[in-house]
Amino acid sequence: MRPGRAGVRTRAEGGDPVKALVLAGGTGSRLRPLTHTAAKQLVPVANKPVLFYGIEAIVEAGITDIGVVVGATGEEIRAALGDGSRFGARITYLPQDRPGGLAHAVLVARDWLGDDDFVMYLGDNFVIGGISACVRAFRTERPDAHILLTKVPDPSLFGVAELDADGSVVHLAEKPARPRSDLALVGVYLFGPAVHEAVAACTPSDRGELEITDAIQRLIDTGRDVRATTITGYWKDTGNVEDMLEVNRRVLEGLSPAVEGHVDDASELVGRVRVAAGARVERSRIVGPAVIGAGTVVRDAYIGPFTSVAEDCAVTGSEVAFSIVLRDSTIEHAGRLEGSLVGRSVRVAGTERAPRAHRLVLGDHSRVHLAT
Ligand code: DAU
Repeated sequence: MRPGRAGVRTRAEGGDPVKALVLAGGTGSRLRPLTHTAAKQLVPVANKPVLFYGIEAIVEAGITDIGVVVGATGEEIRAALGDGSRFGARITYLPQDRPGGLAHAVLVARDWLGDDDFVMYLGDNFVIGGISACVRAFRTERPDAHILLTKVPDPSLFGVAELDADGSVVHLAEKPARPRSDLALVGVYLFGPAVHEAVAACTPSDRGELEITDAIQRLIDTGRDVRATTITGYWKDTGNVEDMLEVNRRVLEGLSPAVEGHVDDASELVGRVRVAAGARVERSRIVGPAVIGAGTVVRDAYIGPFTSVAEDCAVTGSEVAFSIVLRDSTIEHAGRLEGSLVGRSVRVAGTERAPRAHRLVLGDHSRVHLAT
């Protein structure tokens, strides 16, 4: 042991292995229309499931031994990730029989984790800029836990941390009605083996879950070395469409252009545009950054900046800007859509015959803003 900050002691410096525990279970009870029928970890950002960015960030940080906790949507998650080889990783699936909480997921993974250090990554979180720097710091300093925090406008939707004047974590609360700070816990945690004892001591919270915030609070209360770093560039699916459009915009900003599909001579691509193999663009103008998914047809249309159109869609005689369109959807003669999130297998069509009324068939929790 060597002395750490403020009298706490850190574990002796050690090397590998560091594993990653990715949480891709849960029920998704805080749903938006998109996640009624699908795993929330597979919601796409710039046409790629949010979970893939997490796995890529883990691999980029030098961790290839990844355990993925899965629940009711396990089949879908397995089909998307496979054995991990496409990411350069080895994935072990760890079934969780019920969404018992984040600390319950650590219990489920106890044998697989052994006494190795690990990064716990919540599969519906997105950290712009990756996690390499914090993994590097953890590997060198080896505290018992290292948490990431970020300022949010709505802390009561998150775990909330209170720091003292030195920046040490003194108190954590899970979704408090009256938050003591605006510092939310980001869904990336680094742990040494001391967390297992703290997890084993957890009892169900008011919402009936074993909370990782309680386990970390226990580490603090028992004098363990718990550190925190505040980051920017963080996103989580909170059901807020504006946030989702914004993270899509941020990712598209870094897009490298590539035209693998067919673009006819009557079309124009401006700026960073990616047209996937098997997509067709006819008599249309696309102003990047924008992505057009495989098998999608864009005809007599305008696709504006910061727009992702997923696979097997058709956009005809319409304008779509600053929007996300998920797979299998059709938008035809619909005028101009802006700032919109269109789910899977949706049909949006203009009407030419009277009565020129809005005719809507909307799923649960849908929202429509009509330009009347
Ligand atoms: O995203 C950050 C927040 O994540 C933190 O600020 C909170 O302190 C933390 O408790 C957690 O909050 P949520 O309650 O919003 O987490 P959620 O239920 O959305 O689950 C996060 C991920 O973990 C998600 O991908 C589903 C997965 N999960 C969740 C539970 C409860 C599991 O795999 N198993 C579970 O039992």
